Amino acid sequence: MNDNRILLGITGSAAAFKGVMLASLLRKEGYEVDGILTQAALQFISETQLACVTGRPVYSSLFTKQPGDPVPHITLTDSIDLFVIVPATADFIGKTANGLADDLLSSAFIACDAPVVMAPSMNTRMWNNSAVAANIKILETRGVIFAGPVSGPLACGTEGRGRLMEPQNILEICLDVIFGED
Ligand SMILES: Cc1cc2nc3c(=O)[nH]c(=O)nc-3n(C[C@H](O)[C@H](O)[C@H](O)COP(=O)(O)O)c2cc1C
Repeated sequence: MNDNRILLGITGSAAAFKGVMLASLLRKEGYEVDGILTQAALQFISETQLACVTGRPVYSSLFTKQPGDPVPHITLTDSIDLFVIVPATADFIGKTANGLADDLLSSAFIACDAPVVMAPSMNTRMWNNSAVAANIKILETRGVIFAGPVSGPLACGTEGRGRLMEPQNILEICLDVIFGED
């Protein structure tokens, strides 16, 4: 058990707002939540929107403007109970499966030794892409736990697998991982 701290990453998906919903649920469970947004996530939600829920600064730049902390990709991953990425894009899954670290969120992933939960969200054709499937397999063998995706209506107007799991269900998986249940 660490300090009841969770690091939440939000990537550039139409379902990014559900990452903010998860932050709210985690706060209600008593967790301090630090948030990282990718540059693409900023096209969907704002730092202010997430900060209003977490009550803490939100980060989106590797080379931070925060005074006193030049290495947020390290400090944000210190003593956390869990690192959860909701939603996780095909791009983020691909980067992390291949050890790339060219922004704050992927650098934090490389620096993290806490359990990691990723909740993918994408169009069904993207989800069915063999490169995405291979990347998921790589991450699973390295211990990443995947929450979903589920089948249902998608932002692109179609239906199928690729829909982000509901925040309440992701929360339950996060708590199971933290408390060591199967
Ligand atoms: C409107 C819109 C919605 C998108 N939704 C998704 C999505 O749900 N899943 C996904 O993998 N990519 C989605 N993308 C593509 C990503 O935003 C793009 O791959 C981006 O580079 C991801 O960057 P990031 O992984 O750094 O956040 C979407 C793009 C647009 C324009």
